[in-house]
Amino acid sequence: MLVNLNEILKKARKERYAVGLFNTTDTDMLQAAIEAAEELSSPVIVGTAEVLLPYGELKLIAPSVVAAAKRAKVPVAVHYDHGLTYERCVEALKLGFSSVMFDGSVKPYAENIAETREIVKLAHAMGATVEGEIGHVGDAAEGLSSMYTTAEEAKAYADAAGVDALAVAIGSAHGVYKKKPMLNIARLKEIAAAVDLPLVLHGGSGLSDDDFAQSIAGGIAKVNVFTDLCLAGEAAMKEGTEKNLGYLETRNLKVKAIKEAVKTKIRLFGCAGKA
Ligand code: 13P
Repeated sequence: MLVNLNEILKKARKERYAVGLFNTTDTDMLQAAIEAAEELSSPVIVGTAEVLLPYGELKLIAPSVVAAAKRAKVPVAVHYDHGLTYERCVEALKLGFSSVMFDGSVKPYAENIAETREIVKLAHAMGATVEGEIGHVGDAAEGLSSMYTTAEEAKAYADAAGVDALAVAIGSAHGVYKKKPMLNIARLKEIAAAVDLPLVLHGGSGLSDDDFAQSIAGGIAKVNVFTDLCLAGEAAMKEGTEKNLGYLETRNLKVKAIKEAVKTKIRLFGCAGKA
């Protein structure tokens, strides 16, 4: 069933587990994520991100993602990740997404607040939820250059912007890590004590089991994952080529590998059986 973030994340934060957002640029990844969640009776979040649209245009994939969520046996939120422009966030909401992230984290503070508030107003009127970001989660390929979130700015931003979930920068990054990330769990706990919202950890690929255990215990209720799904799919495609399998057999191998990668994360996040 299609739900918004509040319907799954409030309980997650209270009961100290996290729901995964698995970005899906095509229906193969979508099938893998939904089947994994159904097989583990877990709520799940699927969707895509603005930087991924060149690999799967919103208008093309939104109808599949929304229909799959409605049909699913478990709660599924359809989330537009890292919306960079007001226009694209509105487009995602009109196409039936139940949630959007507005990422104004590199904009001046007042602009970030003002634009987020506009999107919150529209999304809430449509029954959808909004994730915001304060501090900035960087790209692992550029080194760990995140601007860490402070508890004061998280509280001020959450109060002013009116978001439903908050992405925080505590040392994770998007993509493949060049060196082992060190999450600032003490900072996370300070933020969680100041802000009652479900907190979101971006850059969920390549983190250790202990990183997840500690960050979820510290207040993280949503973890975003994409790179690990790509790596699992890539390895399966190489295997298919080496074994001389055809296109369709290789495709099935890829879906199976991505599904296993999603299941591994769902189990680590403590989310299995929470549907
Ligand atoms: P990874 O690709 O590092 O898993 O990050 C995903 C993410 O945070 C999307 O917002």
